[in-house]
Amino acid sequence: MLTQPSYRSLRNPVVAIVGATGAVGAELIRCLEDRDFPVQGLRLLASARSAGKVLQYRGQDLMVGEVGPDSFKGVQLALFAADSDTSRKYAPVAQAAGAVVVDNSSAFRMDLDCPLVVPEVNLETLANHRGVIANPNCTAIILCMAVAPLQRRFGLRRLQVATYQAASGAGQPAMDELVASTQAYLEGREYKPQVLPHPYAFNVFSHNDTVDLQSGYNGEELKVIAETRRILSSGALPIGVTCVRVPVLRAHTIAVTAELDAPVPPAAVRECLEEAMGVRIVDDRERNYFPMPIEAQGQGDVLVGRIRRDLGDPSGRSVAMLLAGDQLLKGAALNAVQIAEQLLVA
Ligand code: A2P
Repeated sequence: MLTQPSYRSLRNPVVAIVGATGAVGAELIRCLEDRDFPVQGLRLLASARSAGKVLQYRGQDLMVGEVGPDSFKGVQLALFAADSDTSRKYAPVAQAAGAVVVDNSSAFRMDLDCPLVVPEVNLETLANHRGVIANPNCTAIILCMAVAPLQRRFGLRRLQVATYQAASGAGQPAMDELVASTQAYLEGREYKPQVLPHPYAFNVFSHNDTVDLQSGYNGEELKVIAETRRILSSGALPIGVTCVRVPVLRAHTIAVTAELDAPVPPAAVRECLEEAMGVRIVDDRERNYFPMPIEAQGQGDVLVGRIRRDLGDPSGRSVAMLLAGDQLLKGAALNAVQIAEQLLVA
């Protein structure tokens, strides 16, 4: 009898983390611990700069190795949390060695052979993986967590988005720069930006990704548009977005207006989102208490609030909301580990 091949292929795997010394790498280690992921062995990898550094996993000292062509022998699951170039170079090496790759970079996100997965939204796409699975852009993940349930229940016509993005999206060095430049500012010292292009303390600036001179959109905005469309299986969904960096360490905030197929009372939107997995409603008008990055950080839910009719759309079809989610957790490491959990053989 023919049996259907299953995408579930991992049982108690040997796991490699590429980029283990970075901000996402640290959270990957923590997520594996906290979620009791069945790890037979853990290999921590980074660049030559960090080789020999010691990190902890479940109270054990593990030495970081330099990633190389032989790093993935015997590895069944490779979690990549370095830059796109490293993923392009080593994900095929890991794949050839028999590992399933979950890649946090943007290298494979628009490759149709690589599913782009937010488990709560489009888990079914994981079944078609061929060894490399892409973890979406952090802003796209947080946005989709809130709008996908509305798309499913009410139909979605258009999104208008503005982001308030934390330092962690630019890695540990950017988080360090936010702290160091704030200290310098408070002490009246001069601080010359080294990681981000503009002064970060007590400032807000347009996202640091390269700006396309023709369209005026920066790389982050173009990723949010393309990836959100792909995750929502809605290739032509009109999306307008402005991405901005704010001096917050690790959780992104997003203002979104979603135009639905028909007018929907805000109470029905709220009810729909109350039932959504991974979403927590924080929406207390009397106390003026809504999603804040300081409460989104360090936990896995996407906080959703300020749910109200958008008065800018006279048709009544548009609902406005404020979201906050931890960029390093649901926006990166947690989503990657949730994907890996789906690959585990029961
Ligand atoms: P390293 O510590 O050796 O530089 P973050 O996004 O927080 O900056 O983290 C980036 C992660 O990616 C770090 O673990 C970093 O390792 C790793 N990394 C950067 N470049 C490379 C590379 N060329 N090869 C392997 N790992 C890399």
